Amino acid sequence: MLSNKWLKKIIHGTGPQAQRVDRNTNNLGFGWLYYGLARLLWARWVIVIGSGKGFAPCCYAKAMNDEDRGGTVILIDPSYKGLEPPSYGGIGFWDDAEAVEQHFSSMGTQNIQLLKKTSAEALVEVEEITGGKAQILHIDGAHSFENAKEDFNLYSRFIEMGGVAVLHDSFCQQWPGVSEAVEVFNRKRWDVLTLRLWPGLTLVTRKVGSAQEG
Ligand SMILES: C[S@@+](CC[C@H](N)C(=O)[O-])C[C@H]1O[C@@H](n2cnc3c(N)ncnc32)[C@H](O)[C@@H]1O
Repeated sequence: MLSNKWLKKIIHGTGPQAQRVDRNTNNLGFGWLYYGLARLLWARWVIVIGSGKGFAPCCYAKAMNDEDRGGTVILIDPSYKGLEPPSYGGIGFWDDAEAVEQHFSSMGTQNIQLLKKTSAEALVEVEEITGGKAQILHIDGAHSFENAKEDFNLYSRFIEMGGVAVLHDSFCQQWPGVSEAVEVFNRKRWDVLTLRLWPGLTLVTRKVGSAQEG
């Protein structure tokens, strides 16, 4: 469960993160949504594309552990470093496998499987691991229009009916590519809701009658 000790650990252990956390009050910001969604959906598979130091994957993984029905986060990140493309804010955090294992262990979130690859490279492996079915797809990797659109196009087919895609940085001047990509999502197939709280978070769900193929 979410003790103050754990909240403090994730907020301090994965920062700095643009997730609307408040260190003074242990406010998890967008993390409340990540945690709540994974529990609400009894998530078995969560696919996370891109993470600086593991904030979002840890929130999902913690929720699945607390729910205790079994559940794994697949984290895809090539461990780029730097603010500019192709990294988009990565800090090379995923380079040292032993340190990564210790990091997740200290959060009580060993149920995270890291694929140190780009999203395009990892696609086939993710389909094999998950059986092509996920309840949550979290997109926070490369932030150009083309990349954000491609990540959604490649991976959204895995989202089951009732599941949710979450796109980070969708209301943010620094990286307008994400909100531009959201604009072109097919509204006949997807319902889209953007929370315009900097840096923005967009939730996308399948419309009734939309087949899982995409
Ligand atoms: C902006 S950072 C995510 C930071 C995040 N907002 C947080 O709070 O932790 C973007 C991450 O995406 C990763 N990335 C960049 N291109 C990617 C790609 N093609 N596929 C998967 N991850 C990618 C980078 O290595 C970096 O770690």
